[in-house]
Amino acid sequence: MKFHILFILECFCCLRLSFKASDFMKYRKVGKSGLKVSEISLGSWLTYGGSVENEVAKKCMTTAIENGINFIDSAEIYAKGGAEMVIADFLAEETFNRKDLVISSKVFWAMNDYDVNDWGLSRKNIMNAIEGTLDRLNMDYIDIYFMHRYDYMTPLRETVEILDDLIRDGKVRYWGTSVWTAAQLERANAIAKDIRAHKPVVEQPLYNMLVRYIEMEIMSVAKTHGMGFTVWSPLAQGLLTGKYNDGIPEGSRADKSEFLKKNLTEETIEKVKKLGEIASSLEITIGQLALAWILRRPEISSAIIGATKPEHVIENVKASDVELSKDTLSQIEEILDNEPEWPLTYKPNYYYKDKMR
Ligand SMILES: NC(=O)c1ccc[n+]([C@@H]2O[C@H](COP(=O)([O-])OP(=O)(O)OC[C@H]3O[C@@H](n4cnc5c(N)ncnc54)[C@H](OP(=O)(O)O)[C@@H]3O)[C@@H](O)[C@H]2O)c1
Repeated sequence: MKFHILFILECFCCLRLSFKASDFMKYRKVGKSGLKVSEISLGSWLTYGGSVENEVAKKCMTTAIENGINFIDSAEIYAKGGAEMVIADFLAEETFNRKDLVISSKVFWAMNDYDVNDWGLSRKNIMNAIEGTLDRLNMDYIDIYFMHRYDYMTPLRETVEILDDLIRDGKVRYWGTSVWTAAQLERANAIAKDIRAHKPVVEQPLYNMLVRYIEMEIMSVAKTHGMGFTVWSPLAQGLLTGKYNDGIPEGSRADKSEFLKKNLTEETIEKVKKLGEIASSLEITIGQLALAWILRRPEISSAIIGATKPEHVIENVKASDVELSKDTLSQIEEILDNEPEWPLTYKPNYYYKDKMR
């Protein structure tokens, strides 16, 4: 009888809390890999394990998963391990099945300031870092391990080799890069091919309506190598939600960050206000418009949002259900007026283009 009750309870828990794709969230493959992530995902930089109380952080994560988000992004450096620990706490309390989620972390930045080896992409640091990450996350493996920046002091082959080892050891499922140049992506892929190692499947750059440098070259190079993009600060740290249109709200990120404050120029706010008119005409919010604009590009696998309140998550996930028409996209382009362009001499020339099949 006791066994019977336990069995029913266990089934009930699984039914109640296992991950379920939502009605409006869409999923995309990460480049040409077989990994699928939600178009909107949730990150933990400057928020979880730090400025956001743990209970609120956990509510944000619950809301995210209940609304179809299956990808949670972290890094060892976020709150110096604190973000990873909050994710572990959350997963321990809730019974969302870890295997249904895509959990990422990153390595590069120094975790302490007394050890010359405690940073970068050397075999030594990556091996130490992954143990710390798995320990804090209380997991046997992570799904994506991002190289948080390029390491100019370590031979790239050493990095590619250790990542291949970690994948073969089962500690990491896929590896990715973050803020690497087109040439660095090209070389990493060439080395991996040369030594028959696992290739990077994803790049994580800064990309939003106001910062578009990856459109120049990085997008096409990554695509050539079958890499997807999980982009960060898709709302320009909140600026693209319109929350700064009438000043800086108390407690907002700009209230705490000089860096973000500097971006609140009159010209940018004016653009955001004009974007607001388009959003209103479509009966969506400016933030949803900004996220849907990112998702217009097939190279994007996911836009990683940050959220200090569950309400942010609820609003932002709905962008996955918004498709922007060509007409709307050209109106947006006109307002942004920032499409990146090569200098004239670098522009590709095509002769007899109209005669070619
Ligand atoms: N690889 C890298 O080098 C790198 C670098 C940076 C970030 N990342 C990743 O990308 C994730 C997202 O970055 P981010 O936090 O800058 O993204 P973001 O989505 O552009 O900004 C998030 C912030 O905007 C505000 N916000 C979000 N939704 C809102 C809404 N609907 N209404 C009003 N305000 C809203 C909140 O700030 P407030 O409430 O505090 O104002 C929130 O914390 C990070 O958590 C991290 O995982 C990676």
